[in-house]
Amino acid sequence: MPGASRILLIIGGGIAAYKALDLIRRLRERGHSVTPVLTRAGAEFVTPLSVSALAGRKVYSDLFDLTDEAEMGHIELSRSADVIVVAPATADLIAKMAQGHADDLASTLLLATDTPVLLAPAMNVRMWQHAATQRNIATLRGDGIGFVGPNEGDMACGEHGPGRMAEVPQIVAAVEAGLADGPLTGRRILVTSGPTHEPIDPVRYLANRSSGAQGTAIARALAALGAEVVFVTGPATVPPPEGVEVIRVETAREMLAAVERALPADAAIFAAAVADWRVARESDRKMKKTGGALPHLEFAENPDILATVSALAEGRPRLVVGFAAETDDVVANATAKRARKGCDWIVANDVSAATGIMGGAENAVTIITAEGTEAWPRMGKAEVAARLVERIAQALA
Ligand code: CTP
Repeated sequence: MPGASRILLIIGGGIAAYKALDLIRRLRERGHSVTPVLTRAGAEFVTPLSVSALAGRKVYSDLFDLTDEAEMGHIELSRSADVIVVAPATADLIAKMAQGHADDLASTLLLATDTPVLLAPAMNVRMWQHAATQRNIATLRGDGIGFVGPNEGDMACGEHGPGRMAEVPQIVAAVEAGLADGPLTGRRILVTSGPTHEPIDPVRYLANRSSGAQGTAIARALAALGAEVVFVTGPATVPPPEGVEVIRVETAREMLAAVERALPADAAIFAAAVADWRVARESDRKMKKTGGALPHLEFAENPDILATVSALAEGRPRLVVGFAAETDDVVANATAKRARKGCDWIVANDVSAATGIMGGAENAVTIITAEGTEAWPRMGKAEVAARLVERIAQALA
């Protein structure tokens, strides 16, 4: 964990503002100091008194509070922090930031600062998905603003989908990863992970044995070196790491769409075990046994996400890493796969049942690059991740 830091916390107006109270406690527990700023809308959800009591210092809330201006101007306030965290970051605050508005204390601080900024968006799912919000997010990403969440789930408004504010431990991890100042600070890296599920009918699907363990370990190791990680995951059995942006998908086609939305990135690591085929026509009703007749499933090929991204003429990440899960002739097959898919590196592993690698805790990989092949001894998946990420940092340096 990095040393104690000065955090300026802007609390926007949303139901998730109550989580900001716990966020203040957890950040302080970890030795950070928190200077709170409450927007006018934020004060509708949590009181200035509870915020200042938990922060152990005064809460700033109005741009035109002249006493405060005399004590500490807004420019100074925004610059005396190591990081500015906005939680919850509402659609309105995000729009103001993207446009460069400065019509209240929060937006003025955000415009006046040269400190790293981390946003924890929280809003209704439709607002999050709206083209205007997505445009604003893309603009802010381009400006170097960091994001944690939003997560998917049930929302206070009764709807379900992306828009829930990231959980407090996730935000704490993202703050500390941002402060970690590692060799990957300022790099945006995309990781795909887990299996995909390809529906046959409403109750059945095609799947594979991937647990998501290796992809999760890689994402965690990247975040630990300071990278901003976008983690696109199928229905994995291990939970996603904290401090990364998690995008959950089911099918290969959803995974491709999520990957395309998440670009641009400096590097992309394709650790997912994507189903090569799907059922051509998914039945919208449960298929029934009909007098002993066997069902005939017709298959269609899924898009190859790794090959698609590797072939991008514009916006191709500088480093594209694929995985090759093989059961025979591992190196020969993986070398051919590297050429076929057009990626820079292939991390090859033997997934024969006897190795226990698929779904297990260990991995034995061979790294195939333009320079040649390098076989690594069998080791834990976290260690494979750490070594791989070390190499990625060197390649992007
Ligand atoms: N991959 C992908 N999209 C797909 C299939 C695979 O992005 N539709 C990626 C995986 O994430 C992995 C790499 O491609 O990084 C290799 O996947 P693998 O399934 O081993 O290769 P295949 O293309 O299926 O080749 P083969 O069937 O010959 O093993």
